[in-house]
Amino acid sequence: MRRALIIGIGAGDPDHLTLQAIKALNQVDVFLVARKGDHKDDLARLRREICDRFVTDRPYRMVAFDQPRREDVSTSYTATVHQWHAAIARRFEALLTDEVRDGECAGFLVWGDPSLYDSTLRILDTLKAGGFALDYDIIPGISSVQVLAARHKVPLNGIGESIEITTGRRLAERGLGDAGSTIVMLDGALAFRAIEPAGMYIHWGAYLGTQDEILISGALEEVADEIARVRAEARAAKGWIMDTYLLRKLKTP
Ligand SMILES: C[S@@+](CC[C@H](N)C(=O)[O-])C[C@H]1O[C@@H](n2cnc3c(N)ncnc32)[C@H](O)[C@@H]1O
Repeated sequence: MRRALIIGIGAGDPDHLTLQAIKALNQVDVFLVARKGDHKDDLARLRREICDRFVTDRPYRMVAFDQPRREDVSTSYTATVHQWHAAIARRFEALLTDEVRDGECAGFLVWGDPSLYDSTLRILDTLKAGGFALDYDIIPGISSVQVLAARHKVPLNGIGESIEITTGRRLAERGLGDAGSTIVMLDGALAFRAIEPAGMYIHWGAYLGTQDEILISGALEEVADEIARVRAEARAAKGWIMDTYLLRKLKTP
């Protein structure tokens, strides 16, 4: 039986680590760290910094691996993602078998919170469903959504209203739903451009929790162009961007 801890590490600031996460870090023998995306150097640096700073109790190994890349979506988005997850599950199985000795604990350091737009839990479930003997626990982390709300000093919901968390892709395809507040993540293409801006308010944040953090908020009609310009400039300067935003009707800013 292999053992693993899935540890939420917060959204960019090492101070986001909870006491529970620090205790969990100190139980890990082998950290399995995916190399992925064009922001991999910055993210890998943060993970190393977290381990250097918080692991005090024991020696550990760090195994970096190349995460299989998602194929271009040809037929269905869901089918493509399932195939991609199956490829990652095979990689995880090999790593857990070859790199983690019996009785040792593996650690996955997951950006933000593991329950939110992250595939690690689904992939470990796939592994277990396929018969791989694995026991794991999840340590929640501070998500980029919580950091966005804190940095803009706003509650996520209007009084008695619901919140929808969605992706840029879905916002562009379906527009706004019925929720009083909509949080948009994974938006590579300024999906807020697809909605009617009149009467909408936006709280936008990029690189939240890091030294490069950028915050813009205001009536969507007034700040949409500014966000687009600032986002393009920041992305060009740094080579990558991670941004999240909250949209709601102007009456409840
Ligand atoms: C793959 S999802 C991971 C979300 C993560 N599990 C969480 O709890 O925040 C990546 C998306 O999260 C958002 N995100 C993560 N970290 C961020 C940050 N520091 N600043 C702004 N947005 C961030 C962006 O929308 C990005 O496209």
